[in-house]
Amino acid sequence: MNILIVYAHPEPTSLTRQMVDVTTEMLSAAGHTVVHSDLYGMKWKAVYDADDFPERDNPERLSFIAESGHAYASGQQTPDVLAEQQKLLAADAVVLQFPLWWYGVPAILKGWIERVYAFGFAYGYQNGSNQFRFGEGILKGKRALVNVLAGGPAADYGPRGINGPIEQLLFPLTHGALFYPGMEVLPTHAVYSTVHVSTAEEVEAIKAVWRKRLAGLFTDAPIPFRLQNGGDFPNHHTMADHVAPGQTGLAAHFADPADM
Ligand SMILES: Cc1cc2nc3c(=O)[nH]c(=O)nc-3n(C[C@H](O)[C@H](O)[C@H](O)COP(=O)(O)O)c2cc1C
Repeated sequence: MNILIVYAHPEPTSLTRQMVDVTTEMLSAAGHTVVHSDLYGMKWKAVYDADDFPERDNPERLSFIAESGHAYASGQQTPDVLAEQQKLLAADAVVLQFPLWWYGVPAILKGWIERVYAFGFAYGYQNGSNQFRFGEGILKGKRALVNVLAGGPAADYGPRGINGPIEQLLFPLTHGALFYPGMEVLPTHAVYSTVHVSTAEEVEAIKAVWRKRLAGLFTDAPIPFRLQNGGDFPNHHTMADHVAPGQTGLAAHFADPADM
Protein backbone atom coordinates (compact mmCIF):
# COMPACT_ATOMS: atom_id res chain seq x y z
CA MET A 1 0.00 0.00 0.00
CA ASN A 2 1.04 3.60 -0.52
CA ILE A 3 1.13 5.81 2.55
CA LEU A 4 1.43 9.59 2.51
CA ILE A 5 2.59 11.23 5.74
CA VAL A 6 1.85 14.94 5.89
CA TYR A 7 3.60 16.53 8.84
CA ALA A 8 4.14 19.98 10.25
CA HIS A 9 7.07 20.44 12.60
CA PRO A 10 10.42 22.01 11.75
CA GLU A 11 12.41 20.45 14.60
CA PRO A 12 13.79 16.94 13.93
CA THR A 13 14.12 16.12 17.65
CA SER A 14 10.57 17.21 18.53
CA LEU A 15 8.10 14.63 19.79
CA THR A 16 6.05 15.18 16.65
CA ARG A 17 9.00 14.34 14.42
CA GLN A 18 9.95 11.35 16.54
CA MET A 19 6.44 10.04 15.99
CA VAL A 20 6.77 10.69 12.25
CA ASP A 21 9.93 8.57 12.35
CA VAL A 22 7.97 5.76 14.02
CA THR A 23 5.30 5.98 11.29
CA THR A 24 7.92 5.81 8.57
CA GLU A 25 9.89 2.96 10.11
CA MET A 26 6.92 0.83 11.04
CA LEU A 27 4.95 1.17 7.83
CA SER A 28 8.06 0.72 5.68
CA ALA A 29 8.99 -2.42 7.63
CA ALA A 30 5.46 -3.71 7.02
CA GLY A 31 6.13 -3.50 3.27
CA HIS A 32 4.27 -0.27 2.52
CA THR A 33 5.66 2.51 0.34
CA VAL A 34 5.93 5.65 2.45
CA VAL A 35 5.98 9.13 0.92
CA HIS A 36 6.47 12.32 2.93
CA SER A 37 5.11 15.81 2.73
CA ASP A 38 7.45 17.54 5.20
CA LEU A 39 5.75 20.93 5.08
CA TYR A 40 8.49 22.92 6.84
CA GLY A 41 11.24 21.02 5.04
CA MET A 42 9.58 21.74 1.69
CA LYS A 43 9.20 25.39 2.71
CA TRP A 44 5.56 24.96 1.83
CA LYS A 45 3.91 28.24 0.87
CA ALA A 46 1.22 28.50 3.52
CA VAL A 47 -0.60 31.58 2.31
CA TYR A 48 -3.19 31.22 -0.40
CA ASP A 49 -2.95 34.33 -2.58
CA ALA A 50 -2.75 35.70 -6.11
CA ASP A 51 0.60 33.96 -6.71
CA ASP A 52 -1.34 30.70 -6.82
CA PHE A 53 -2.84 31.74 -10.12
CA PRO A 54 -0.10 32.88 -12.51
CA GLU A 55 -2.46 32.54 -15.50
CA ARG A 56 -5.62 34.28 -14.38
CA ASP A 57 -8.97 33.65 -15.98
CA ASN A 58 -10.06 37.07 -14.77
CA PRO A 59 -7.15 39.47 -14.19
CA GLU A 60 -9.55 42.17 -12.98
CA ARG A 61 -10.82 40.54 -9.82
CA LEU A 62 -9.46 37.63 -7.81
CA SER A 63 -12.16 35.05 -7.14
CA PHE A 64 -10.41 32.14 -5.45
CA ILE A 65 -13.01 29.53 -6.35
CA ALA A 66 -13.25 30.58 -9.98
CA GLU A 67 -9.47 30.83 -10.43
CA SER A 68 -8.92 27.56 -8.59
CA GLY A 69 -11.36 25.79 -10.90
CA HIS A 70 -9.80 27.42 -13.94
CA ALA A 71 -6.24 26.53 -12.95
CA TYR A 72 -7.22 22.95 -12.10
CA ALA A 73 -9.24 22.36 -15.27
CA SER A 74 -6.73 24.01 -17.59
CA GLY A 75 -3.60 22.40 -16.13
CA GLN A 76 -2.22 25.70 -14.87
CA GLN A 77 -1.87 24.98 -11.17
CA THR A 78 1.47 25.70 -9.53
CA PRO A 79 3.82 22.67 -9.54
CA ASP A 80 3.87 22.37 -5.73
CA VAL A 81 0.08 22.07 -5.56
CA LEU A 82 -0.05 19.61 -8.45
CA ALA A 83 2.61 17.43 -6.81
CA GLU A 84 0.65 17.23 -3.55
CA GLN A 85 -2.57 16.35 -5.39
CA GLN A 86 -0.73 13.54 -7.17
CA LYS A 87 0.64 12.27 -3.86
CA LEU A 88 -2.90 12.22 -2.45
CA LEU A 89 -4.25 10.38 -5.49
CA ALA A 90 -1.50 7.78 -5.26
CA ALA A 91 -2.01 7.17 -1.53
CA ASP A 92 -4.08 4.38 -0.02
CA ALA A 93 -3.81 6.04 3.38
CA VAL A 94 -2.86 9.51 4.57
CA VAL A 95 -1.36 10.09 8.03
CA LEU A 96 -1.31 13.66 9.35
CA GLN A 97 1.03 14.47 12.25
CA PHE A 98 1.28 17.87 13.93
CA PRO A 99 1.25 19.69 17.27
CA LEU A 100 -2.04 21.26 18.38
CA TRP A 101 -1.57 24.99 18.00
CA TRP A 102 -4.37 27.18 19.27
CA TYR A 103 -6.89 24.37 19.15
CA GLY A 104 -6.22 23.48 15.56
CA VAL A 105 -3.65 22.66 12.92
CA PRO A 106 -0.50 24.78 12.52
CA ALA A 107 -0.93 27.48 9.86
CA ILE A 108 1.37 25.71 7.43
CA LEU A 109 -0.93 22.67 7.41
CA LYS A 110 -4.03 24.82 7.06
CA GLY A 111 -2.32 26.43 4.08
CA TRP A 112 -1.59 23.02 2.58
CA ILE A 113 -5.29 22.20 2.71
CA GLU A 114 -6.38 25.57 1.31
CA ARG A 115 -4.00 25.39 -1.64
CA VAL A 116 -4.03 21.67 -2.48
CA TYR A 117 -7.79 21.28 -2.19
CA ALA A 118 -8.63 22.88 -5.51
CA PHE A 119 -12.08 23.44 -6.95
CA GLY A 120 -12.85 20.45 -9.16
CA PHE A 121 -10.52 18.31 -7.05
CA ALA A 122 -11.59 18.35 -3.40
CA TYR A 123 -14.78 20.37 -3.83
CA GLY A 124 -17.01 20.96 -6.82
CA TYR A 125 -15.96 17.44 -7.74
CA GLN A 126 -17.07 16.18 -11.16
CA ASN A 127 -19.86 18.61 -11.95
CA GLY A 128 -19.05 21.75 -10.00
CA SER A 129 -21.81 21.12 -7.50
CA ASN A 130 -21.88 19.73 -3.97
CA GLN A 131 -23.33 16.45 -5.18
CA PHE A 132 -20.31 14.36 -4.24
CA ARG A 133 -18.99 15.19 -0.82
CA PHE A 134 -19.00 13.90 2.77
CA GLY A 135 -18.10 10.32 2.08
CA GLU A 136 -17.96 10.64 -1.69
CA GLY A 137 -15.39 12.45 -3.75
CA ILE A 138 -11.99 12.23 -5.36
CA LEU A 139 -10.36 10.64 -2.29
CA LYS A 140 -13.05 7.98 -1.71
CA GLY A 141 -11.64 4.63 -0.68
CA LYS A 142 -8.59 6.10 1.06
CA ARG A 143 -8.03 6.08 4.79
CA ALA A 144 -6.92 8.98 6.95
CA LEU A 145 -5.40 8.96 10.42
CA VAL A 146 -4.69 12.10 12.44
CA ASN A 147 -1.96 12.14 15.11
CA VAL A 148 -2.07 15.33 17.15
CA LEU A 149 0.20 16.29 20.04
CA ALA A 150 -1.25 18.55 22.71
CA GLY A 151 0.58 20.29 25.50
CA GLY A 152 -2.44 20.15 27.80
CA PRO A 153 -3.62 17.13 29.79
CA ALA A 154 -6.17 14.60 28.54
CA ALA A 155 -8.71 15.84 31.12
CA ASP A 156 -8.84 19.19 29.32
CA TYR A 157 -9.97 17.41 26.14
CA GLY A 158 -12.42 14.90 27.64
CA PRO A 159 -16.22 14.92 27.17
CA ARG A 160 -16.62 17.77 29.70
CA GLY A 161 -13.09 19.10 29.57
CA ILE A 162 -12.41 22.83 29.67
CA ASN A 163 -11.01 22.89 26.12
CA GLY A 164 -13.72 20.75 24.57
CA PRO A 165 -13.41 17.18 23.25
CA ILE A 166 -10.49 16.73 20.87
CA GLU A 167 -12.66 15.01 18.26
CA GLN A 168 -14.94 18.05 18.20
CA LEU A 169 -12.05 20.54 18.09
CA LEU A 170 -10.61 18.73 15.10
CA PHE A 171 -13.97 18.38 13.32
CA PRO A 172 -12.97 20.95 10.67
CA LEU A 173 -10.02 18.71 9.79
CA THR A 174 -11.54 15.25 10.12
CA HIS A 175 -15.04 15.98 8.82
CA GLY A 176 -14.39 19.14 6.85
CA ALA A 177 -11.11 18.30 5.09
CA LEU A 178 -10.75 14.51 5.16
CA PHE A 179 -14.29 13.08 5.09
CA TYR A 180 -15.51 15.83 2.75
CA PRO A 181 -13.58 14.58 -0.32
CA GLY A 182 -14.40 10.99 0.55
CA MET A 183 -11.80 9.58 2.92
CA GLU A 184 -12.60 7.18 5.73
CA VAL A 185 -11.29 8.91 8.85
CA LEU A 186 -10.06 6.88 11.79
CA PRO A 187 -10.52 8.12 15.36
CA THR A 188 -7.90 10.75 16.15
CA HIS A 189 -4.79 9.59 17.97
CA ALA A 190 -3.97 12.33 20.46
CA VAL A 191 -0.94 12.50 22.73
CA TYR A 192 -1.54 14.74 25.74
CA SER A 193 0.62 16.53 28.30
CA THR A 194 3.48 16.68 25.82
CA VAL A 195 5.02 19.63 27.65
CA HIS A 196 5.70 17.30 30.59
CA VAL A 197 7.27 14.48 28.60
CA SER A 198 10.93 14.38 29.60
CA THR A 199 12.28 10.87 30.04
CA ALA A 200 13.21 8.32 27.38
CA GLU A 201 10.80 5.89 29.03
CA GLU A 202 7.90 8.30 28.57
CA VAL A 203 8.80 8.78 24.91
CA GLU A 204 9.05 5.03 24.39
CA ALA A 205 5.61 4.52 25.95
CA ILE A 206 4.12 7.13 23.60
CA LYS A 207 5.75 5.45 20.61
CA ALA A 208 4.49 2.01 21.67
CA VAL A 209 0.87 3.19 21.81
CA TRP A 210 1.26 4.84 18.41
CA ARG A 211 2.65 1.65 16.90
CA LYS A 212 -0.51 -0.16 18.02
CA ARG A 213 -2.67 2.46 16.32
CA LEU A 214 -0.63 2.22 13.14
CA ALA A 215 -1.12 -1.54 13.13
CA GLY A 216 -4.85 -0.87 12.67
CA LEU A 217 -4.46 1.66 9.86
CA PHE A 218 -6.23 -0.57 7.34
CA THR A 219 -8.46 -2.49 9.75
CA ASP A 220 -9.72 -0.14 12.49
CA ALA A 221 -13.29 1.11 12.16
CA PRO A 222 -13.52 4.72 10.93
CA ILE A 223 -15.43 7.45 12.72
CA PRO A 224 -19.07 6.83 11.71
CA PHE A 225 -19.63 10.23 10.15
CA ARG A 226 -22.92 10.47 8.33
CA LEU A 227 -22.85 10.30 4.53
CA GLN A 228 -24.39 13.22 2.65
CA ASN A 229 -26.02 10.82 0.21
CA GLY A 230 -26.82 7.98 2.61
CA GLY A 231 -30.30 9.16 3.62
CA ASP A 232 -29.52 11.11 6.79
CA PHE A 233 -29.61 14.41 4.86
CA PRO A 234 -32.68 14.12 2.59
CA ASN A 235 -32.18 17.59 1.11
CA HIS A 236 -28.35 17.39 1.32
CA HIS A 237 -28.29 20.17 3.89
CA THR A 238 -30.15 19.36 7.10
CA MET A 239 -30.29 16.13 9.06
CA ALA A 240 -33.66 14.38 8.96
CA ASP A 241 -35.68 14.67 12.16
CA HIS A 242 -35.49 10.93 12.85
CA VAL A 243 -31.66 11.01 12.79
CA ALA A 244 -30.05 11.69 16.18
CA PRO A 245 -33.38 12.97 17.54
CA GLY A 246 -33.03 15.83 19.96
CA GLN A 247 -29.31 16.22 19.28
CA THR A 248 -27.84 19.32 17.71
CA GLY A 249 -24.39 20.59 16.86
CA LEU A 250 -21.34 18.47 16.23
CA ALA A 251 -22.43 15.58 18.44
CA ALA A 252 -25.23 14.75 16.00
CA HIS A 253 -22.65 14.12 13.27
CA PHE A 254 -21.15 11.17 15.09
CA ALA A 255 -23.45 8.19 14.55
CA ASP A 256 -21.97 6.68 17.70
CA PRO A 257 -21.68 9.35 20.42
CA ALA A 258 -18.86 7.37 22.01
CA ASP A 259 -16.67 8.51 19.10
CA MET A 260 -17.02 12.19 19.94
C1 LIG B 1 1.78 28.39 18.99
C2 LIG B 1 1.46 27.29 19.95
C3 LIG B 1 0.13 27.04 20.24
C4 LIG B 1 -0.20 26.00 21.11
N1 LIG B 1 -1.53 25.74 21.34
C5 LIG B 1 -1.86 24.70 22.16
C6 LIG B 1 -3.23 24.38 22.37
O1 LIG B 1 -4.15 24.98 21.83
N2 LIG B 1 -3.52 23.35 23.19
C7 LIG B 1 -2.54 22.60 23.80
O2 LIG B 1 -2.85 21.66 24.52
N3 LIG B 1 -1.22 22.87 23.58
C8 LIG B 1 -0.87 23.89 22.77
N4 LIG B 1 0.46 24.17 22.52
C9 LIG B 1 1.47 23.24 23.04
C10 LIG B 1 1.87 22.26 21.94
O3 LIG B 1 0.81 21.43 21.60
C11 LIG B 1 3.08 21.46 22.41
O4 LIG B 1 4.16 22.36 22.47
C12 LIG B 1 3.40 20.31 21.49
O5 LIG B 1 2.44 19.30 21.60
C13 LIG B 1 4.75 19.74 21.83
O6 LIG B 1 5.11 18.80 20.82
P1 LIG B 1 6.48 18.97 20.04
O7 LIG B 1 7.58 18.64 21.03
O8 LIG B 1 6.44 17.98 18.92
O9 LIG B 1 6.55 20.40 19.58
C14 LIG B 1 0.82 25.20 21.70
C15 LIG B 1 2.16 25.50 21.39
C16 LIG B 1 2.47 26.51 20.53
C17 LIG B 1 3.91 26.78 20.22
